[in-house]
Amino acid sequence: MTPKEIRKKFLEFYKARGHAIIPSALLVPENDPTTLFTGSGMQPMVPYLLGEHHPEGTRITDSQKSFRTGDIEEIGDNRHTTFFEMLGNWSLGDYFKKEQLPWVFEFLTSEIGLDPKHLYVTAFIGDEENNLPRDTESAEIWERLFEGKGIDAKIALIGSEADGYERGMKDDERIFYYDSKKNWWSRAGVPENMPAGEPGGPDSEMFYDFGTEHNLKFGKHCHPNCDCGRFLEIGNSVFMEYMKKPDGTFAPLPRQNVDFGGGLERITMAAANTPDIIAVCHRPIIDVLEKMSGKKYDDTSADISAFRIIADHIKAASFLIGDGVVPSNTERGYFVRRLLRRAIRYADQLGIQDAGLSALVEPALESYRDAYPETYAVREIIKQEIDKEEKKFRKTLKEGLKEFSKMIVSGGISGKNAFDLYQSYGFPWEMTKELAESAGVKLIGMDIGFQAEVEKNIREHQDLSRTASAGAFKGGLADHSEKTTRLHTAHHLLLKALQIVLGPQVKQRGSNITNERLRMDFSYDAKMTDEQKKEAEKIVNEKIAENLPVLRSEMPREKAETLGAEHEFGQKYPDRVSVYSIGPKSATSANPEFEKAFCLEFCGGPHVDRTGVIGKFKIIKEESVSAGMRRIRATVE
Ligand code: ALA
Repeated sequence: MTPKEIRKKFLEFYKARGHAIIPSALLVPENDPTTLFTGSGMQPMVPYLLGEHHPEGTRITDSQKSFRTGDIEEIGDNRHTTFFEMLGNWSLGDYFKKEQLPWVFEFLTSEIGLDPKHLYVTAFIGDEENNLPRDTESAEIWERLFEGKGIDAKIALIGSEADGYERGMKDDERIFYYDSKKNWWSRAGVPENMPAGEPGGPDSEMFYDFGTEHNLKFGKHCHPNCDCGRFLEIGNSVFMEYMKKPDGTFAPLPRQNVDFGGGLERITMAAANTPDIIAVCHRPIIDVLEKMSGKKYDDTSADISAFRIIADHIKAASFLIGDGVVPSNTERGYFVRRLLRRAIRYADQLGIQDAGLSALVEPALESYRDAYPETYAVREIIKQEIDKEEKKFRKTLKEGLKEFSKMIVSGGISGKNAFDLYQSYGFPWEMTKELAESAGVKLIGMDIGFQAEVEKNIREHQDLSRTASAGAFKGGLADHSEKTTRLHTAHHLLLKALQIVLGPQVKQRGSNITNERLRMDFSYDAKMTDEQKKEAEKIVNEKIAENLPVLRSEMPREKAETLGAEHEFGQKYPDRVSVYSIGPKSATSANPEFEKAFCLEFCGGPHVDRTGVIGKFKIIKEESVSAGMRRIRATVE
């Protein structure tokens, strides 16, 4: 069975059970500045899980294109990909566990034809501290479902993943209770990490057993959540029924929801009983790569990861470019750049020096012709973008690798080295890190972490040259030209002005600055009046006229939080952060006088030195983005 056949079967199965089929959302989330990419079927559904009415009703099914950035450097094993499709079925306050679990079981065994003896499942063990009960209902439903197939499925209490390695599995055990690290789902992870207002719930996962031997490298004993490769998670039913309250406890959501996510590619692997996602789902790309390289894709080859990395990265980059993300040095574009540059480096490793990786676009997309015709239709544009990026990077790759070899002679790679490789040869810093790791050399002098060290070098470089240079790692800014920098400082002033005019509850929810205008999304639930807009404009212009000093300081994250520095919602920050303060007039870098600053933000910069150079600030437009979210465009002249 192909992914295409399985996708179709899944959607039809749920359609026959009263679900409306909805299309996949884009990989670039709409109105959700908390995340750069859509990484699960759940993200576009958040408003409905929280209680908003879905125009299609209470039963929904879909297959959602997903991209997970965290996995880029992990790709190369037999089951991870950065791009994948998540099959979804949703109950928005409609059915719950006793319908959901029998349906999944029926789908996997009758429709896909998986042998139930190969299926193992998990459920939530409960969390006393957070007063969240054990999910005995799910475990009992599973018991009966297996019984119906003549299987005596015993229930086992595991607990943590570590407990699993210690205890292992006993005869006939098939249903396993794990803790909240494994069997609780929210966008933020475990209950403790959820911010107030975030929905979440216990989940029940399904695993396919390939029957391969346990690898002791992973732990003493095998168990469903073991990473040795024997078990593969193929689906997850989340019973989304709680919401975190501001006091840290949990309240029931207005409705009990189901969020099922099934890995389309992984279900295809199970159907083929083949533990290799690339062999099963990326075969057409591999065929072309074999021809290009003259090498064979097989388990025994040292090149197998290179094949897998290229296949994964080209497919992911194709879909991202198809959804409008082109390679660049900022935000989303930087991920596409990383994917392509990494693929190019591994193509070299396979001996295909002048690869022409765009030749892989057609084989990557061919099987998606029907499901995603809009992506297939722009394949020529995708090829052009990949060609452009490959040309650009090939110009400097060889020289850069030579330079890298020279650098490691001195015994390690420093943040300065990584910055130089980025600046002169276009090496994404993650690639330099990976090169250093595989060469077995140290990363030097990185007490504040490698990325922070590289960023520090970028800033120092900017301070030295006072030019608008290539600041690649901070989101939000299209470039670092002088006008963009002025707009960036104005952006900080504007946020504070909005809090003064509209109230301190106003929070920034996204920002985008080009050299023509700034754009800020912020939380506020009404249209701004003309007077309010004028007032905000006036405050910003007053602060510009006062010619306040703009100062950058580094401090522990906790201190910045205590000072009440503004930060981006949903963003994770390192232990040490950079903070920009504006004002008061008497502040100097030796004495930034944070308590008296007009505004304070977690920020990587760059900014102007004094507000006086910003120019006249003007709001061009104020409009609604979504419920509770407004957008301002403004300029300086
Ligand atoms: N939202 C759930 C997941 O991504 C289904 O695993």
